[in-house]
Amino acid sequence: MIAIGCDHAGYDMKTGIIKFLEDKGIEVIDCGCDGSPCDYPVIAKKVCENITHGKADKGILICGTGIGMSIAANKIKGIRASVCSEHFSVKYTRLHNDANVLCMGARVIGEGIAQELTDIFVNTEYEGGRHQKRLDLIKEIEENK
Ligand code: RB5
Repeated sequence: MIAIGCDHAGYDMKTGIIKFLEDKGIEVIDCGCDGSPCDYPVIAKKVCENITHGKADKGILICGTGIGMSIAANKIKGIRASVCSEHFSVKYTRLHNDANVLCMGARVIGEGIAQELTDIFVNTEYEGGRHQKRLDLIKEIEENK
């Protein structure tokens, strides 16, 4: 299950990605928006809470740059959100960072690239091993240790 959300800048891209995922048989929770002006932190919170509450495995967030969404998402405990615009970064943020949210900028990349990045994000497994210690260190920062 993938939770997905956007602000007004990302609405058209979100619509395309929902279709892309559903055509592949992947279930989606659409957390808004409906295309009218909205504030991206509200949507980021909704998508991330679906993950932290166990309703979705991963999330996708789209705004103009992807950056506002990622800043908001990374404030939420348990979320590792990455803004990606190309294939290498999305592959390695899954392999090494176990990123659970992919953020993309609808004013930065086209829909074709966004769908390919989504495909990599959904289908690449975390490598674990030596990377786990680093994720544990991130968790310690999160816990204020
Ligand atoms: C909205 O105009 C824009 O600021 C937003 O989509 C996003 O790019 C913020 O990071």
